[in-house]
Amino acid sequence: MKTLIKNGSVVLKDEVRKCDLLIEDDKIAAIGENLGKADKVIDAAGKTVIPGIIDMHVHLREPGFEGKEDIASGSLAAVAGGVTQVCCMPNTNPVCDNAVVVRYIVERAKEVGLCKVRPIGAITKGEQGESLSDIGKMAKAGAVALSDDGKSVMNSNIMRLAMEYASDFNLKCLCHCEDRTLVDGGVVNEGYNSTLCGLKGQLRAVEDIMICRDICLAQSLDVPVHICHVSTYSGVEIIRDAKKRGIKVTAETCPHYFILTDDIITDFDTYTKVSPPVREEKDRLAIIEGLKDGTLDCIVTDHAPHSKKDKEVEYNLAAFGMSGIETSFALSYTYLVKSGIMTLPELMKKMSYNPAETLSLEGGEIKVGGVADLAIVDLEQSYEIDGEKFLSKGKNTPFNGYKVYGKVCATLVDGQIKYENK
Ligand code: DOR
Repeated sequence: MKTLIKNGSVVLKDEVRKCDLLIEDDKIAAIGENLGKADKVIDAAGKTVIPGIIDMHVHLREPGFEGKEDIASGSLAAVAGGVTQVCCMPNTNPVCDNAVVVRYIVERAKEVGLCKVRPIGAITKGEQGESLSDIGKMAKAGAVALSDDGKSVMNSNIMRLAMEYASDFNLKCLCHCEDRTLVDGGVVNEGYNSTLCGLKGQLRAVEDIMICRDICLAQSLDVPVHICHVSTYSGVEIIRDAKKRGIKVTAETCPHYFILTDDIITDFDTYTKVSPPVREEKDRLAIIEGLKDGTLDCIVTDHAPHSKKDKEVEYNLAAFGMSGIETSFALSYTYLVKSGIMTLPELMKKMSYNPAETLSLEGGEIKVGGVADLAIVDLEQSYEIDGEKFLSKGKNTPFNGYKVYGKVCATLVDGQIKYENK
């Protein structure tokens, strides 16, 4: 089966080129002009073809919390956001800490048949932080990384063993950095706004201490480590310094950390509650600087869908997390590219190429011989975000009413159209 995508602006690794793309079965067969006949022709005139987004930090909630999201609804939301591959976190019920759950997720995702779903196995059994999970068996079953996301592994010796053992299987530990002995019931960033609102704050050190600990382990053991959802200016400084010193550390951040500040908590909207919390302007600016200078390698969503009953309660009681997979491209494009902070190829490195490199996944780049995981977007078309229209079961976005550019018109996975919005 041959598909020709004609007349689009194609985002290659280092440039945007007006050209055609010929897809043969699941691969990109040619890039250029006059590429011959095809079984299907897609006219992308006026549109832009980007590499499929790889969101390496997503909560799909299945098994166990299907009221919030399931693999089918999460996959549909993903392709609606131009995402062709997701890595899903293990804080499900049962926790994804063994080969059976890994295999279940892989098989269920294949049945759903929308985006590619790569399970992340738990570092410790039940994410309890006490004993290592079946790392080798999970790797064999298809786990692409390890994490106790939602929590840090507080016992440094267990974390040491996990990082060493994981590296034997070429897996990375993705570290949710939160010193649980220092959180002390904090639900927002500790600062002026937490005081103003009477909400208990979390110091930046809650996050930074664990970033330091995990970087120290990576240095001592000479193994790679990946730092999740960086939110503090000081965390950016620590990671920048570690990279300068040659430590094998990669890091990610999310759109809410480079767009929002904790000014948004002052109306007590629980959709603004997330872990780690959104911080202050100096953090937001440092995150942008970190993205620009390569300290922060990847943009992910930490897509954390929650049901209304988990969010429509007092701020202190509400669940942490934001539903983000359908808006990550448009928000990132609007706030980073349209605003002149980076180019579109640079953005796609953060959203596609670097996640693929970080976890040794396929895809991430439009190139001859590469897998045909793509999205076609209209960069001129603006729309207003409305969480109630999300395909995800999680409507919990803090970006309601934001005007963004970059509508996803179509998403192709393995050369097949999985989503269209004409
Ligand atoms: O806000 C968050 N929600 N942060 C996490 O790390 C976990 C996530 C969830 O699972 O809801």
